[in-house]
Amino acid sequence: MAGIKLKNIQKSYLVDDRTLDVLKGIDLQIPEKSITVVLGRSGCGKTTLLRLVGGLEEADAGEILFDATHKTAYVFQESRLMPWLHVWDNVVFGLKKQHIDKTAVQNIIDTVGLKGFEKAYPHQLSGGMQQRTAIARALAYDPSFIMMDEPFAALDYFTRDQMQKELIRLQQNRGASILFVTHSIDEALLLGHKIVIIEDGQIKREFQIDTEQTERDLLSPFFIDLKREIINELDL
Ligand SMILES: Nc1ncnc2c1ncn2[C@@H]1O[C@H](COP(=O)(O)OP(=O)(O)O)[C@@H](O)[C@H]1O
Ligand SMILES: [Mg+2]
Repeated sequence: MAGIKLKNIQKSYLVDDRTLDVLKGIDLQIPEKSITVVLGRSGCGKTTLLRLVGGLEEADAGEILFDATHKTAYVFQESRLMPWLHVWDNVVFGLKKQHIDKTAVQNIIDTVGLKGFEKAYPHQLSGGMQQRTAIARALAYDPSFIMMDEPFAALDYFTRDQMQKELIRLQQNRGASILFVTHSIDEALLLGHKIVIIEDGQIKREFQIDTEQTERDLLSPFFIDLKREIINELDL
């Protein structure tokens, strides 16, 4: 099956002479062309998992198998823009000069709603716009696989709502595979085709959401029941 497969991934850290077992054997299939959400409370190892999949760190044990044609991008919780570069230059920052397709870049900037702000510097943008710039930067790389670590956590409710909708649209238009980390149950319910609950270093449960609906109604009976199940699973 195409996508990414994690086999028995283990990761520990040494903190103050004590071993902290963060991931204790994660087996996970991340299907292509859909959104897989990793959900869990703060400190459960979500970022660690993402860093391992992104190759920013190495697992102590286990395997991560990619399909042949993956080109990955990473969106961090903070936008991590270069303060001395304006929006356009931040977006093309990771690209080789000869690979920059100006029309494509402009399209991406338009898509994330930053048309007219190409020459604005990060300090002239709101938090939401900065984060959209970071997402545009990831998209400009034309990835087939995007890892997102709580990318909307710092945004206000309205901007977050808008960004979640844009992300769904982008994912559908571009057919990308997304691994999305969050501690928000509602966000997981809005975005996930697959929701993976991590607790105590292990996958506690996986949910599959096979709805074709683009705009999910979290107040519908289906999603209320699912939310209740997730809350029970997380012992909230
Ligand atoms: N580089 C590191 N060195 C030591 N401990 C770490 C390191 N990175 C993460 N941890 C610890 O691993 C645990 C999981 O962290 P993290 O993956 O960031 O959790 P989450 O993203 O779910 O909040 C935490 O207890 C954290 O303190
Ligand atoms: Mg984290």
